Amino acid sequence: MKLLEKVKSRSAKIGVVGLGYVGLPLAVLQAKTGFTVIGIDAVAEKVELVNKAKNYIGDVLDSDLQEVIEKKKLVATTDFSALQECDVILICVPTPLTKNKEPDITAIVKVTEHLANYAHPEMLVVLESTTYPGTTEEVILPRLEEKGLTVGQDLFVAFSPERVDPGNEDFKTHNTFKLVGGVTEACQKVAKAFYEQSIVKIFPLSSPRVAEMAKVFENVFRSVNIALVNELTVLCDRMDINVYEVIDAAATKNFGFMAFYPGPGVGGHCIPLDPYYLSWKSKEYDIHTRFIELAGEINEGMPYYVVNKLQRVLNQRGQCLKGAKVLVLGVTYKADISDDRESPATKVIELLQKENANVSYVDPFAPNFTVGSQQYASQELTPQLLADSACALILTAHSAFDYDMIVEQAPVVFDTRNGTRNVESHRDRIVLLS
Ligand SMILES: NC(=O)c1ccc[n+]([C@@H]2O[C@H](COP(=O)([O-])OP(=O)(O)OC[C@H]3O[C@@H](n4cnc5c(N)ncnc54)[C@H](O)[C@@H]3O)[C@@H](O)[C@H]2O)c1
Repeated sequence: MKLLEKVKSRSAKIGVVGLGYVGLPLAVLQAKTGFTVIGIDAVAEKVELVNKAKNYIGDVLDSDLQEVIEKKKLVATTDFSALQECDVILICVPTPLTKNKEPDITAIVKVTEHLANYAHPEMLVVLESTTYPGTTEEVILPRLEEKGLTVGQDLFVAFSPERVDPGNEDFKTHNTFKLVGGVTEACQKVAKAFYEQSIVKIFPLSSPRVAEMAKVFENVFRSVNIALVNELTVLCDRMDINVYEVIDAAATKNFGFMAFYPGPGVGGHCIPLDPYYLSWKSKEYDIHTRFIELAGEINEGMPYYVVNKLQRVLNQRGQCLKGAKVLVLGVTYKADISDDRESPATKVIELLQKENANVSYVDPFAPNFTVGSQQYASQELTPQLLADSACALILTAHSAFDYDMIVEQAPVVFDTRNGTRNVESHRDRIVLLS
């Protein structure tokens, strides 16, 4: 049977490479759609967990994982030779930065090497990892063509970015517009037919490069707008203006304004990293993407701003940071999720350590948190713990926190997320970013 028919009849076998925040939900979605799915990951522990239906990703329902494992619609392995059985390969491996903030596409290259070993005619390969424009056609395609396969005839290649917003209850993979850019028209046709089986809205694009650029642009857009409001916050602080009141006021405009909120920095696997993929690539074209660099500079400066302001807050109370008991509330990179990758809490705590502050933390989503050589364990949030601290520092405004209790018990609350917005009593104890 030809690939297109296999895809449409859902008899195609799907290989999902990388079973993390993106890959596992995608593998479960495809298995629930009726495809037989093989999940491949380099980490044996993850593979074991998946095969035992032990869920480790918040956006996956335990019951969904159990169902697809029990029905044998999803199996996981570390063995890349499984690729030879697959008709469709979805690549969801990480795309981090090097220490010098350059793209590190080692995982994509490694997977491509495996693919080159096991590629066969009538195969669709889709890269879902976020990366710089050109990766699909410059890195993946040439290596597969060396196998004697011809793109658009017996090999189909596309880029289709994952755009999931972890923890978002309304928009999941199946109801978020899926951008699809195939290398040729035939690639586009097969890739579109495949995604149509499980995703409600497909948005076809003329090439992988357009899709790659669109995905990075979305994240640059967020990074730049967050930086803009962070910069405004620093100015508002100097001018003694409440930035949240300013944002709320501006947001009353029915058009032309979109509210972004300040914070102690940006986190997660996307916003702090992806823009640098584009700024790196742009240099090949003699373009210096100044917005990206500037946004990075402002956002990366926020943890320093937070610690400086905390120093001022304690100073006004006749205390200093050295030896002060700082109780950090929330260490994951955003509210109500367990992902702590690139969390600004890491930098803030590192700076507090340098000042010899006495740091402890509470986070219902992160039982342990490591900064440098120091390992911390989450404390239980009790009135006594708050009362014993010099300051409660809110870095992530989880909805499970009892903000009334926090403000009532802590001597002072430095709230970098405006999580205390609805607290009515003792507001004089709350210090905001501005
Ligand atoms: N997390 C998000 O919210 C999100 C959203 C949209 C896009 N993305 C993009 O999706 C991609 C994956 O991100 P993620 O958050 O799922 O990362 P992750 O770290 O959660 O998962 C990646 C998985 O790939 C595995 N892996 C690493 N190298 C491998 C290799 N060579 N072979 C096989 N498996 C390998 C890891 O063990 C891990 O399980 C990245 O490019 C990211 O930018 C992430």
